[in-house]
Amino acid sequence: MPENSSSISKRKKEHLDLCLSDKVSFRDKRNGFDNYEFKHYAITEVDISKIDFKTEFFGKKINYPFLISCMTGGTGEAEDINAQLAIAAKQLNIPVGVGSQRQALENKQFHQSYKIIRKNAPGIPVIGNIGGSQLVKHKSLDKIKYIAGLIEADAMAVHLNPLQELMQEHGEPVFKGFLKGIEKLIKYLDIPVIVKEVGAGISKSAAYKLLNAGVQGIDVAGAGGTSWAGVEILRNNDDKNDKFWDWGLPTSYCIRTVSKLKDKYDFTLIGSGGIYDGFDIAKSLALGADITASARIILQELNKSGIEGVVKLIENWFETVKKIMFLTGSGSVSELNTNKIIRKEKYY
Ligand SMILES: Cc1cc2nc3c(=O)[nH]c(=O)nc-3n(C[C@H](O)[C@H](O)[C@H](O)COP(=O)(O)O)c2cc1C
Repeated sequence: MPENSSSISKRKKEHLDLCLSDKVSFRDKRNGFDNYEFKHYAITEVDISKIDFKTEFFGKKINYPFLISCMTGGTGEAEDINAQLAIAAKQLNIPVGVGSQRQALENKQFHQSYKIIRKNAPGIPVIGNIGGSQLVKHKSLDKIKYIAGLIEADAMAVHLNPLQELMQEHGEPVFKGFLKGIEKLIKYLDIPVIVKEVGAGISKSAAYKLLNAGVQGIDVAGAGGTSWAGVEILRNNDDKNDKFWDWGLPTSYCIRTVSKLKDKYDFTLIGSGGIYDGFDIAKSLALGADITASARIILQELNKSGIEGVVKLIENWFETVKKIMFLTGSGSVSELNTNKIIRKEKYY
């Protein structure tokens, strides 16, 4: 039985509740960053007080190479969460995404839960969101333009979540025609299109096909943070799928391999999936990401300490990144990305 508007809302609410708990992390698999260490540089001459993280995201100036990942919308609770995330993003001058806008295609009941992001964060990059399975199902590009317009999106993210759709009761694990669909969408929209995973990672070969289709941004959203198989297994009390809990490509592997495509393609590489602290951010950037992102840990911080908590958390993470840049002799993020990190086993 396909989902209707109220069952989509209910599912969104259950996702929020489970993600506020610590039950939905990967179990044995990590983001992979523990396999790396920075190369200490004893003769650093970097002036730590001059390190500046300002950069651009699809043409808009931002203060940190960091974005608040797409999370919610389309349920009562989402409006307040998005309102607060937008204020935090505005204070930090960083991009923020909305959660899947599928619900907004059904009716107008929860439109405000998405629109509030643009209202509270004028001027910052806001990212729209729709599922790859919705793109192939509806085929109506007008509708996607419409939901992008609702939030005056600067970019549209299309999420690929085959694992989650497969685990989800009433899921729609049907992506046939996706590459053709995304190619059409890119031509139709007048904003850039980002393709993202949700925690199982994007491989180099998948990224290659996406880039050939014209995608302008790739968010690898690798394994090691939130397990969306885990979320659905818990929602359904579904033991038979338990072995899929830890399925996916670790984030560090995705960033390192997908970044190799930068030699040939011009695109924004977003490193996400289990980004837990300043070390994870610095390692993402050192391995080739242009910008990093987090979802669940930001939601949990918002729940615990409010807007100021989120702002402080991200500022503190970048204070750590500064220290790492100083100790590796990296005066800029691009210098951090030039041979400043090593796989641990290579030391011995
Ligand atoms: C509560 C919650 C809801 C999410 N909803 C969406 C969504 O609607 N669309 C999407 O593309 N990703 C969604 N995600 C996935 C995140 O954007 C992210 O890719 C994933 O959780 C991995 O990042 P993390 O390990 O930092 O949580 C959601 C994440 C959370 C925590």
